[in-house]
Amino acid sequence: MNITILGIESSCDDTSAAIITDGILRSNVIASQKVHEEFGGVVPELASRAHQQNIVPVIDAALKRAGIDKSELSAIAFTRGPGLLGSLLVGTSFAKGLSLGLRIPIVDVNHLHGHVLSHFVKQSPDDVVPEFPFLCLLISGGNSQIILVKSYSEMEILGQTIDDAAGEAFDKCAKVMGLPYPGGPHIDRLASEGDPKRFKFARPHIPALDYSFSGLKTSFLYTLRDEIKKDPDFIEKNKADLAASLQTTIIAILLDKLDKAVKLTGVKTIAIGGGVSANSGVRNAIAEYCDRHHLTAFIPQRQFTTDNAAMVAIAGYYKYLDKNFCPYDLPPFARVTI
Ligand code: KG4
Repeated sequence: MNITILGIESSCDDTSAAIITDGILRSNVIASQKVHEEFGGVVPELASRAHQQNIVPVIDAALKRAGIDKSELSAIAFTRGPGLLGSLLVGTSFAKGLSLGLRIPIVDVNHLHGHVLSHFVKQSPDDVVPEFPFLCLLISGGNSQIILVKSYSEMEILGQTIDDAAGEAFDKCAKVMGLPYPGGPHIDRLASEGDPKRFKFARPHIPALDYSFSGLKTSFLYTLRDEIKKDPDFIEKNKADLAASLQTTIIAILLDKLDKAVKLTGVKTIAIGGGVSANSGVRNAIAEYCDRHHLTAFIPQRQFTTDNAAMVAIAGYYKYLDKNFCPYDLPPFARVTI
């Protein structure tokens, strides 16, 4: 019998629904919320309201694109956390209600597990997936973590940021450059035209495998402050070089600790995930690093880097195979845990 999972993702500002049958993706629909752009960041209450408006049409579209009726679903997987509580509540409550109506089980998914397991979403049966154990560099707007992935359910965080996430470093520096939110993709675009060696920004000295990006952010701000005093048009004239130098520093920080983790664990497979893994410089740097060290790299398609329900559906699929269902009284959770 086929196992068909509906995945629902609503942890931040993207409402997404996906259908996966026996591990193969049949549809993945994402409704992004434009309402936050003018505020320069996600406004939680507006995000919850937009999820409420989007969730029915998004799930309907996912079912239609997959060409199935809701009666064919085996289970519903939903993101239970971490994320914005109000946003999570919309997806969680909808999943519970629909499962009661359809009399099928629900499976709760940790958003971070979803990002890690996005590499197991197959679009065709021949797609190659990582072998366990592998290291996952999970880099997003909220997290920067090196995770040792031992199985579909066993994951150990070897290192993580003690302050800002890599995505925050991109976004906050972009903001002071006057770029729109989220700034990461704008830095990426500008960086391709700039000189990555033009500016030197602070690199952290943090023990073990943890990350820190707040010092880099401060040194970026100080550089701008000092230079703008001399030339008010400094940013405009130098934005490509600023972006390239910033991106290169972030990549160097990420690779430094990843390299330590590889040496410490002896693991031969590296995967990346999360919004920042869409960055062209990061993708090239990881591919080159893995080539140089004879490691296997898993770099996700861009559609699976940001929040999406395909990753929730695949994580739910493996929990479903383990009969690891969710009781109805489990509430969403906001804080990071794995
Ligand atoms: O995983 P994600 O969609 O959700 C959050 O954790 O919020 O990640 C969003 C982050 C933002 O910081 C955004 O600027 C960053 O991913 N991002 C990028 C790129 N695309 C998205 N950062 C650098 N280069 C990109 N191309």
